[in-house]
Amino acid sequence: MMLAKKISVLLAVGLAILALGACRGAIKKHPPIHPVLDMDFQDKVKAQLGLEFDGWRDGRGSRTPPAGTVARDSLNWETEAVFQDANGAYLDNPLPADESVVRRGQERFDIYCSVCHDRTGAGNGLVLQRAKLVSKAAFNYAVPHLAKEPRLVQSKDGYLFQVISNGQATMPSYAAQIPPRDRWAIVHYLRVLQSRAN
Ligand code: HEC
Repeated sequence: MMLAKKISVLLAVGLAILALGACRGAIKKHPPIHPVLDMDFQDKVKAQLGLEFDGWRDGRGSRTPPAGTVARDSLNWETEAVFQDANGAYLDNPLPADESVVRRGQERFDIYCSVCHDRTGAGNGLVLQRAKLVSKAAFNYAVPHLAKEPRLVQSKDGYLFQVISNGQATMPSYAAQIPPRDRWAIVHYLRVLQSRAN
């Protein structure tokens, strides 16, 4: 009998400790005791915050990379949006304009671009036809003819790649949907549309 009582008292105390130990979400006035420090407290440079350091006169924490800094791995045009050289000039298309590439570009253009630009690039896609029906004023767009606009016909491939990657005005970026290699293929297909139209 005595033993059973002792055990139940012990159990109750144990449960109480467990229950109290679980009260971690409660609001406390003092910072918790921090027995295991890990690396929680150490000097570090925080992004966007200032830093007093004798070598750096401007007191900024974030540093501008020195001139001529290059990426750790050389940039890969197949996976990265590389479309300008170091002087900001638009690059040529790194893909060959062979049949399989142009067909791929055509397929991707018809999927992603024709909804607005239509299959010829004239800008009469279903989305824009619909926009005109809904409200001419609300959709105050000026979509150039992708195949005929001289500015686009004369542009460098890197420029067209850039428009697909970043979007322009009301045209959204297609960087998330179309990998760089396919963007270059679409640019080749735009050239085909242009040479057909002119
Ligand atoms: C949701 C509709 C929409 C889709 C989809 C779309 N565009 Fe556009 N695009 C526009 C609009 C609107 C403009 C005009 C932007 C402006 O006012 O400058 C435009 C402009 C352009 C221009 C001309 C940029 C310039 O310098 O004038 C190019 C090139 C272009 N789009 C290519 C593409 C390609 C390639 C795709 C497919 C990957 C695509 N667009 C998909 C709506 C779209």
